[in-house]
Amino acid sequence: MEEKIFDFWQDHSQQFLEMAFMTERREVIERPDGYGKNSSDCGDTVEIYIMVRDGVITHASFSSNGCINTSACANTVLHLAEGKSVEDAWKISPKDVIDYLETLPAKEHHCAELAIGALHRALSNYQENRREPWRKLYFTGR
Ligand code: FES
Repeated sequence: MEEKIFDFWQDHSQQFLEMAFMTERREVIERPDGYGKNSSDCGDTVEIYIMVRDGVITHASFSSNGCINTSACANTVLHLAEGKSVEDAWKISPKDVIDYLETLPAKEHHCAELAIGALHRALSNYQENRREPWRKLYFTGR
């Protein structure tokens, strides 16, 4: 029997296509409340910027040199994190990203791990900035 060829436009979920091509969250924030950068062995990098008010993530953005799967994962991570408390954002996992996207190819699951790693670093940086607020004044980003 002939193997079915994956048709990118027909076979990807609506969520995947939306998250893969969304550009609204691609933004570098100059003085974020939290910043995280993560790189993968494949060479892709994701940088995440979060703004927090009263313990809730009110705005989140990213920049990346990555492929379309990485973009889909980074957008999903921010979609899931925005509006959540910092505490709840720590609980977002690569599986949540994969489940949301529905059609992220198995060999690209590391893109979800990459994006979650960047989020976790941004959350950790936020917590450091809260303990030592002077740190934010000296934010040099990348
Ligand atoms: Fe390696 Fe996306 S292809 S992180």
